[in-house]
Amino acid sequence: MDSNVRPETMERISNDALADKFIAGQIEALRKQIGTKKVLLALSGGVDSSVVAALLIKAVGKQLVCVHVNHGLLRKGEPEQVIRVFREEMGANLIYVDAVDRFLDKLADVSDPEKKRKIIGAEFISVFDEKARELEGVEFLAQGTIYPDILESNGVKSHHNVGGLPDDLKFELVEPIKLLYKDEVRVVGKRLGLPDNMVYRQPFPGPGLGVRCVGAITRDRLEAVRDSDAILREEFAKAGLEGKVWQYFTVVPDFRSTGIRNGMRSFEWPVIIRAVNSIDATSATVEPLEFSLLNKITSRILTEVKGVNRVLYDLSPKPVATIEYE
Ligand code: XMP
Repeated sequence: MDSNVRPETMERISNDALADKFIAGQIEALRKQIGTKKVLLALSGGVDSSVVAALLIKAVGKQLVCVHVNHGLLRKGEPEQVIRVFREEMGANLIYVDAVDRFLDKLADVSDPEKKRKIIGAEFISVFDEKARELEGVEFLAQGTIYPDILESNGVKSHHNVGGLPDDLKFELVEPIKLLYKDEVRVVGKRLGLPDNMVYRQPFPGPGLGVRCVGAITRDRLEAVRDSDAILREEFAKAGLEGKVWQYFTVVPDFRSTGIRNGMRSFEWPVIIRAVNSIDATSATVEPLEFSLLNKITSRILTEVKGVNRVLYDLSPKPVATIEYE
């Protein structure tokens, strides 16, 4: 039987008992596959790679080597949370790579969206490749491939980019959640003890905040994206919208407009608020946010985020717009 086809008899994992059964079965299968060897995992902190990490920690403990690459395009607090949860709380063998300067230097002056994506992807492979070569005795590469990835593509999680490692660096793949749908991954993740904000995380693009810092990325404008995104997420959580709105974030386009601050003319960026609902990201409708919430977010962004003098609310559905700006 093709191991990439979900058997019709496989029950949908929708409760703790079914999750426990899946976890126990995978632990046994992973121990059998990996034996006493080492397994490498690119741990982004997204739901899928986090669940794979938690499963492997249970199955093979320190034989798992997680590599968390900070490309500088992560949301506020993300690298810190990955380190806290996996290294400190779960005792994982975690290599943290601060590659911020490397990525941002490569991206300087690049405004074409596809070029930006390509640079981020290629640099990710290059950083991961370097780390993998420093390690000895690694024979396996774990991936957070899930069933929709297999149905939609060739099964390689393209935005994690590890599918593109050079030919002389080949590992046997370990893909413990490849037959699961996203909702099942979340049930399993919750059961494995991952925090709610990891398990119920909204979709986040592989190139991260890079596609929300429209045009050529500069460090100051990227900070405006990161800081405004953190404020938006905080206010959504306070308003009880976390987990209710499918995807919400801020965008900082590459233009300035005039404003006035402390009696002086300013010439600063706008922040755009995007909040959409969707089922599978092929189409999306705009979440009608309360005006009082928009006002609160606007006022916080205008006082707390450096270099910003306007806040805009994007009312465009997909189609005609896309969800992201690049
Ligand atoms: P768009 O902007 O095409 O986005 O309406 C649809 C969904 O895909 C996410 N997205 C990405 N995810 N790598 C990813 O892993 C990417 O390059 C990428 N671009 C968009 C987006 O956040 C939305 O959920």
